[in-house]
Amino acid sequence: MLSTVYSAGVFGIEGFIVSVECNGLRRIPDFHLVGLPDLAVREAHDRVYTACENSGYKFPALDLMINLAPADRKKEGSGFDVAILLGILHCGGYLRPDGDLSDKCFCGELSLSGSVRGIRGILCMCAAARDAGMKEFYAPAVNAREAAAVNGITVYAVENIKQLVDHLNGTERMTPVVRDVESEIRYGSYGVDFSDVKGQAMAKRAMEIAAAGGHNILLIGPPGTGKSMLAKRLPTILPPLSFDEAVETTKIHSVAGTLPSDVSLLASRPFRSPHHTMSAVSLAGGGINPRPGEVSLAHNGVLFLDEFPEFPKQVTDSLRQPIEDGKITITRAAGRVTFPCSFMLVAAMNPCRCGYFGDPTHTCTCRANDIRNYIARISGPLLDRIDIQVELPALTYDELSSRSSPEESSATIRERVIAARKFAERRFESEKDVFCNAKLTAAMIRKYCVPDEAGRELLRQAYESLGLSARGYDRTLRVARTIADLAGCETIGAVHIAEAVRFRSLDRKYWKN
Ligand SMILES: Nc1ncnc2c1ncn2[C@@H]1O[C@H](COP(=O)(O)OP(=O)(O)OP(=O)(O)O)[C@@H](O)[C@H]1O
Ligand SMILES: [Mg+2]
Ligand SMILES: [Zn+2]
Repeated sequence: MLSTVYSAGVFGIEGFIVSVECNGLRRIPDFHLVGLPDLAVREAHDRVYTACENSGYKFPALDLMINLAPADRKKEGSGFDVAILLGILHCGGYLRPDGDLSDKCFCGELSLSGSVRGIRGILCMCAAARDAGMKEFYAPAVNAREAAAVNGITVYAVENIKQLVDHLNGTERMTPVVRDVESEIRYGSYGVDFSDVKGQAMAKRAMEIAAAGGHNILLIGPPGTGKSMLAKRLPTILPPLSFDEAVETTKIHSVAGTLPSDVSLLASRPFRSPHHTMSAVSLAGGGINPRPGEVSLAHNGVLFLDEFPEFPKQVTDSLRQPIEDGKITITRAAGRVTFPCSFMLVAAMNPCRCGYFGDPTHTCTCRANDIRNYIARISGPLLDRIDIQVELPALTYDELSSRSSPEESSATIRERVIAARKFAERRFESEKDVFCNAKLTAAMIRKYCVPDEAGRELLRQAYESLGLSARGYDRTLRVARTIADLAGCETIGAVHIAEAVRFRSLDRKYWKN
């Protein structure tokens, strides 16, 4: 007897359907598993056998041949257990012969007791099943809410094999898992707010501009001025995730195994803060069975590089391409995997090694040469991709302790950010792959970022007095465009230029002399 049961695997962040064919012959009992299985799949036999017996079903005394197709795709992990056992139970006559399995997809690992364990990548698998026209998806109970984020397919939460067999035989039906993801992601929850940060008006304004234009930003200041605080709060002023963004981001975390157990769809923008000792592979992604790196885990959110000069140059240089492309491709024998990685970069640093250069209340103990060397450690090419640089002064006691002026909330700032992005939207309708000002190319800058007469004159003066490079010039125009968008102005005027130039003045202060 031949039975076919469908399951799913994952490659990169895309799921694919695997058909598990099981043929049982009435002759000396034996067990063969074919179709490029890796070690975990081969171990499936032991798990499947024990789980079967412990669920109360005598393992069929048949010569069993099991084939996982398509044969040319590498199948990793233990998520095919449930489908394999179902195929065997079908051959053994434990499932109703008239039951239709062709529109159902089964994923999950078996424990020896017959209960079903969670696996990585369930969201991707369920989406693949839906796309293949399947009607029902059977997920491990712990992953079921994650699967239920996919529309257009009925999801069941499977605790154990006995329950699944009873359901399929119609003796005791399970209830599907339903969730309303659209309303869940309408507001992400972050637990922090911009109003927590006191003072630092210029840095806050810089964060708002960065959020509105999608600009990468560098925060420079002595210890304890709120750099980390501000970085962590950037996701709270970005527009809420769209449904597609939430699903794509969740897929990445689902595959990486970084989805918190109580979170089945990422409704908030991710914030990732890798340490400077992290390897280039962990940062960018890779490995034999490629896994997403920090840049992809930050997809649609924020990547924060604290103590920026401490990152080794070869590590930060490896970020250049991902930042440019918004995706990263890893080539392996098994094929090429592409992980999306469209994030906003926030870098933070002290002005010097001791931290207090330019601080009026502490004395800097560094020599001029050390300061230059410290700054010179930053990867130039990466710095070239940061439009905004802003300095955070040390806070005075009064500022820190003041209770008089309440600070603006994230929600208020986010409204302005959303309005500015909406204002800019029309610009991007005809430009492929451009969705915010930070992505404007040099040619587009000539087209969309043309200042008026006074603006041009001011820019010329600033350009000469600051000694801006050509790239610095383009970055100033991009930021000025966003500032004008925030003000609802079609034309870039002198006020917009003047403010944008303030976010470049560090070029001269630190990098030039
Ligand atoms: N602007 C601020 N408003 C309110 N609290 C602040 C502010 N700046 C610093 N603090 C307080 O100081 C602590 C340290 O701030 P934070 O970690 O953001 O500093 P930092 O600039 O990142 O310093 P470091 O250079 O040491 O990383 C915060 O947890 C907060 O309690
Ligand atoms: Mg910090
Ligand atoms: Zn110093």
